[in-house]
Amino acid sequence: MTEKKKFKIGVIGVGGIAHCHIECYSRCPDVEIIAAAELVPGRAEEVMETYGFKGVHFYQDYKEMIDKETELDGVSICTYNTQHAEPAIYCMEHDVPVLLEKPFSVTLEEAEEVCRAEAKSKAFISLGFQPRFDPNMQMIKKIVESGTLGKIYYIQTGGGRRRGIPGKTFIEKSTGGIGAIGDIGCYSLDMIMNALGHPKPLTVTGYTSDYFGTNPKYNGKDAERFNVDDFAAGFIRLEGDIILDFRISWAMHADTPGDTIIFGTEGALRIPSTQCWNGSVGGAMTLYHDIAGVQFDTKIPLIESKEYLWDKKIRSFLNAIEKGGPSPVPTSQILYNQAIIDGIVKSAECGHEVEVKFAD
Ligand SMILES: NC(=O)c1ccc[n+]([C@@H]2O[C@H](COP(=O)([O-])OP(=O)(O)OC[C@H]3O[C@@H](n4cnc5c(N)ncnc54)[C@H](O)[C@@H]3O)[C@@H](O)[C@H]2O)c1
Repeated sequence: MTEKKKFKIGVIGVGGIAHCHIECYSRCPDVEIIAAAELVPGRAEEVMETYGFKGVHFYQDYKEMIDKETELDGVSICTYNTQHAEPAIYCMEHDVPVLLEKPFSVTLEEAEEVCRAEAKSKAFISLGFQPRFDPNMQMIKKIVESGTLGKIYYIQTGGGRRRGIPGKTFIEKSTGGIGAIGDIGCYSLDMIMNALGHPKPLTVTGYTSDYFGTNPKYNGKDAERFNVDDFAAGFIRLEGDIILDFRISWAMHADTPGDTIIFGTEGALRIPSTQCWNGSVGGAMTLYHDIAGVQFDTKIPLIESKEYLWDKKIRSFLNAIEKGGPSPVPTSQILYNQAIIDGIVKSAECGHEVEVKFAD
């Protein structure tokens, strides 16, 4: 019996989150990592050794890696946010499928540029939103799609941590580009946008602040270099007469800015906020509805799953490579997520509501 061909994978950016990608690949007997590109000398070599990948070709320049490693079946892009778009575009230009870490990018314009490159490419991009594989998040979508809630007209979502400002490359514009809004905001936005079937954002009124990140009392020495948002809020009009009320926080004087609540004409759904910041459902959800004219509250218990979301995320990418697509988490869906983030940033800068303008 001939041995099944192994997927030949490359990694661009081998910092923190690349460990999760590489560890999951190491659990796949049908994967070999053949190349890695990392700006910091020695970093990728160390990580590959940790996870037992041998014979990997190392590069500092991802373009050189893509040019030389013509056998690559796919690439994980695990660079910081300001370095998402360029490598993704380069991979698309060379027809190499990409698993791109969240958030999509820093600006809407960058995300649109990536989409244009993808449209011309034979390859696809999947965005690294592992909560998409969480059965609880899938349940929210099923409830919305079942019509139990009727017509959805108002949603409150977001979340955050009482104190949880990351360090490293997350807190500077040159690397993170945006702060909490991109790091964790994109998850709670995806929870809702995915459930609703990705309605187009029309207008955004946004606010951002940095009161905790820039204060040494809360952020120690990192306060000196902190120049992104640690809190963001937005009031977004979505296509189909839907209002989205959103807030996200890396640090605050409360445990949560509130639960996620979906209001419909036939029912409402409350999702406890504890974990919404990372796209997961923290506890039993409550469905509020009337039956035979009587008001009922129905608890929807958490679905426990033994499967690791990251393994599902990596396997979904490999399966799509094998079949030549479609992308498990396509750019066309996450473009609207990025448009909301971008709208909040732009509205916060100019101090009034902005219209969301797409290039095409
Ligand atoms: N899906 C998740 O659960 C999750 C969790 C954490 C972070 N992330 C995302 O992953 C990305 C990376 O986060 P991180 O914590 O690993 O950051 P990090 O700073 O630890 O790692 C990024 C690495 O990319 C390298 N790099 C940057 N530009 C490069 C380039 N052009 N070529 C080669 N290497 C380059 C850096 O040197 C660094 O080693 C971020 O966008 C973040 O939002 C996702």
